[in-house]
Amino acid sequence: MTLRVDFVNRLKGGLLHIGLTPEGDERLPEMLPGQFVEVAVDKAHVLLNRPFSIFNCTDRLLELLVKPLGRASEALGSYEPGDSIRVIAPLGHGFTLAPEGSRVLLIGGGVGIAPLLYLARTLNGRGIRPVIVYGERTVPDAALCARLSEVADLQICTDDGSAGFHGFVTQHPALTEGSYDLLQVCGPAVMMKNVARIARGKGLDAEYSLENKMACGLGACLCCVENTTTGNRCVCTDGPVFKADELPW
Ligand code: FES
Repeated sequence: MTLRVDFVNRLKGGLLHIGLTPEGDERLPEMLPGQFVEVAVDKAHVLLNRPFSIFNCTDRLLELLVKPLGRASEALGSYEPGDSIRVIAPLGHGFTLAPEGSRVLLIGGGVGIAPLLYLARTLNGRGIRPVIVYGERTVPDAALCARLSEVADLQICTDDGSAGFHGFVTQHPALTEGSYDLLQVCGPAVMMKNVARIARGKGLDAEYSLENKMACGLGACLCCVENTTTGNRCVCTDGPVFKADELPW
């Protein structure tokens, strides 16, 4: 589908917050927390689409949170309101939605925070206010934290101690001492593997959203394959969210 750029905001740390809206009075398809979209970044003159988590979504606005790391994601910063952009959405399997009354801990590292706002907002609709532990190198963007605080009890964690808890998410008391029915995590693989080790030790039910490199997003190119307990599986079609017992961590 072709969407129109509504806004492109630059956040602290170089993150791009992008809003996309359908043409006229069209509506966006239903998207679930943890699913992702593929974006054709024509301005970057690259052949392949790029995958991005769904940061937030209504039937009229799709929000993405992008860390510019390469030509395509950097080019997204040059889009202006009114520009057209081609998007394939939604793709993949998202997070399990915990039943009403559950205690849920969400952990996001860096731009891995992206899918957790929409997940928390959806959980709010079930009467659940999750705890979010958000790990960053240094003090994160205030507007982003304000959005997260609307839907969750936000615990910030910084490597340099400039805001919140001084240390890594794996050291945060919410994880080491808290008691939850479900833990859901997105971030760098090293971080998630360390979280998984702690969660397993505590017998915590957990899910992890993998950030493997992707090209087609449709299960055709096999560049996103991950070794799981049931063999090699495509992160784009079998994930990106996997249950703890599916990962040999
Ligand atoms: S991205 Fe092509 S198979 Fe997953």
